[in-house]
Amino acid sequence: MLNLDQNTITQEALRRLEGCTDPRFKEIMTSLTKHIHDFAREVKLTEAEWMQGLEFLTAVGQKCDDKRQEFILLSDTLGLSMLVVALNHQKPAGCTEATVFGPFHTDAASTFKNGDDLALGAAGEPAFISGTVRGLDGKPVPNALIDVWQADGDGIYDVQYTDKDGALFARGRLNADKDGKYWFKSILPEFYSIPVDGPVGKMMKHAARHPYRPAHLHFMIQAPGYEKLVTHVFRKDDQYLESDAVFGVRSSLISDWVKKDATAMPDGSKMDKPFYTLDFDFVLNAAKA
Ligand code: BEZ
Ligand code: FE
Repeated sequence: MLNLDQNTITQEALRRLEGCTDPRFKEIMTSLTKHIHDFAREVKLTEAEWMQGLEFLTAVGQKCDDKRQEFILLSDTLGLSMLVVALNHQKPAGCTEATVFGPFHTDAASTFKNGDDLALGAAGEPAFISGTVRGLDGKPVPNALIDVWQADGDGIYDVQYTDKDGALFARGRLNADKDGKYWFKSILPEFYSIPVDGPVGKMMKHAARHPYRPAHLHFMIQAPGYEKLVTHVFRKDDQYLESDAVFGVRSSLISDWVKKDATAMPDGSKMDKPFYTLDFDFVLNAAKA
């Protein structure tokens, strides 16, 4: 078709999808085309602005490598990651809510036993974390695989350091016991800044947004017959709970990390300085049939 104008071009772009035989791809591309054309019309996008947009997306891609995922960060800071979580994890009341995965998980984490110290020397105040994994019927889920990861007390994830020979700390995997109980030692999470040394950081600054995430510990929990749970446990009273840079806070995930005097940890191990305890139970949703 010739002589397309600022309105008819959308219909023609949609018509070019008519031969697509993948119905879901066709649905997504149709909607994306409509919305992106509407967006350009709505803001009366100039050529210079679109070039700036393309340069921004190019810089986002160029910032990505095996350690840095700037596209996840972009999705997170636009609220798109949390929107997709909300759309895909509507669970019955009583189930532990899901939140963003984030860019700092690694499959290379070591495996631990209940009671082990996952901190492996990470900076931070000591903490003892425990709880039970259950199903919605209240029964314990035995042997669930629990993957945890967190920033250190300086607000940096192990994978962000460039001067530690790739050493991993403040993360690991362990299995709940036959009664669904888990317990391990690590450090108290602190609020931190998402990485701001790339194009997403520049975008946040230009938008006059702060880059902070409230203190949290990441959990990913998997067990046969249950939906995989990706979530965090936050610290109550954190100043950034209401304004998380990636929109990830659910009030049901905010918990009290209780300060204890130096004596012994709940498993009897000696502790010669004050430490924190977190007691948090997880309720898994049954897997979809
Ligand atoms: C995180 O919690 O690790 C995270 C999530 C989204 C963006 C950056 C970091
Ligand atoms: Fe995090």
